[in-house]
Amino acid sequence: MDKFVIKGGSRLKGRVNIGGSKNSALPIMAGALLAEGPSTIYPVPDLADVRYMCEILGDVGVSSGRSRDGRLTLAVEDESDSHARYDRVRKMRASICVLGPLLAKRGRARVAMPGGCNIGSRPVNLHLRGLRALGAEIELAGGDIVATAKRLTGATIFLGGPFGSTVLGTANVMMAATLAEGTTVLEAAACEPEVADLAAYLNAMGAQVRGAGTPRVVIEGVASLRGAAHHIIPDRIEAGTFMIGAALTNGEVTLENVRADHMMAVVDKLRQVGVIVAPAGEKGGEKVQPDNSPDASVVVSSARRLEPTDVVTQPYPGFPTDLQAQIMTLLCLADGNSAITEKIFPDRFMHVAELLRMGADIRKEGPTTIVTGVKRLIGAPVMASDLRASAALVLAGLVARGETTVSRVYHIDRGYEQIEAKLRSLGADIRRVAE
Ligand code: EPZ
Repeated sequence: MDKFVIKGGSRLKGRVNIGGSKNSALPIMAGALLAEGPSTIYPVPDLADVRYMCEILGDVGVSSGRSRDGRLTLAVEDESDSHARYDRVRKMRASICVLGPLLAKRGRARVAMPGGCNIGSRPVNLHLRGLRALGAEIELAGGDIVATAKRLTGATIFLGGPFGSTVLGTANVMMAATLAEGTTVLEAAACEPEVADLAAYLNAMGAQVRGAGTPRVVIEGVASLRGAAHHIIPDRIEAGTFMIGAALTNGEVTLENVRADHMMAVVDKLRQVGVIVAPAGEKGGEKVQPDNSPDASVVVSSARRLEPTDVVTQPYPGFPTDLQAQIMTLLCLADGNSAITEKIFPDRFMHVAELLRMGADIRKEGPTTIVTGVKRLIGAPVMASDLRASAALVLAGLVARGETTVSRVYHIDRGYEQIEAKLRSLGADIRRVAE
């Protein structure tokens, strides 16, 4: 197990390239199960979660190869084994994405029921409801979801749940519906850019998906799909993490390969607290909207103590839960009281106890935390509990006085490609050492 040793106090300055989106890549990789012939997707970051997904796909007969420049080629070689086993699925919940494609393409799927995880309860009832509505027979056997269907049939399906829609549930049912007979309408579908990206890949394979990225998605089933090449959207959570890092350290970072139009809630919140976010080349233009074109560059800088604010996590286009921990670190140093309310995963607050160890002033009341800004954080040994919580602790280490060690960084390796190398290139003092 590795840990990060961070000496706080450096301002982040320079340019950083944002990778392809992990949360786009994972369902898209599962989507390759639907196709005849190979698919190539790029740029796919070199992450533990991507490797887990390659292993799961390997178990169900898909070959995979990733080139150094991040082109991942996937091809179905053998359809005889459709069982995604618990020892793989328990490592990564996104494994559930193979359920819909396996069922639609092969007429059967057996996928271990994912358990809870460090961010709280994570049921899959909406995934199953959607697949049942398409005509699948689903039962539980030995902790596995066993799904069968001769041919799925289009249906109108409501995907809303107590905490809004479901991102991977929408992906699963959408993928299954591409090969169903007739028309499927998904109501209350997740609107996340990653869902729209998946639809773009499916359409490149010959699917007929309309409306992805809105709450109403219409899918006309087709008889077959062929492999396709697909360019993945930039990772808005990695970008948001670096934006917060620049703001927190009073630095100035140019982020390359960002879709600011996927991040308006984040950009808006950062501007509210006094961070300058501007298209590259127009520094200081706080009123200017960042360029919406893909692969654009954005400059993020801040030169003063930030204002407090209230943050409520919401489904897209609201403020993403995957940046809740990181913005908490930022608000720990703001000039006053902030409130952060978690509306997607109400128990996703494992980072609070660790930030308290670094001198933060945070009070938790149900799904809300009240963060009172302190003058400084103090370096300490802290433990990563999940992917985004670890990122928040690394950010805290960058500004804390003295040395911070973040242990269990395998969590961060699941979703950030070489975060320490990228931070070092921006001037941070961070080292990876074996524990
Ligand atoms: C995706 O998880 C992301 N994962 C998560 O990112 C992200 O936090 C989450 O969406 C919300 O944006 C990937 O894309 C791989 P949900 P997902 O189903 O799809 C409830 C990260 O750090 N729900 O949209 O599994 C659920 O409990 C990860 O990169 C049901 O009630 O999340 C939650 O309250 C962590 N029934 C809400 O819906 C269901 O069947 C949203 O969850 C499914 C979900």
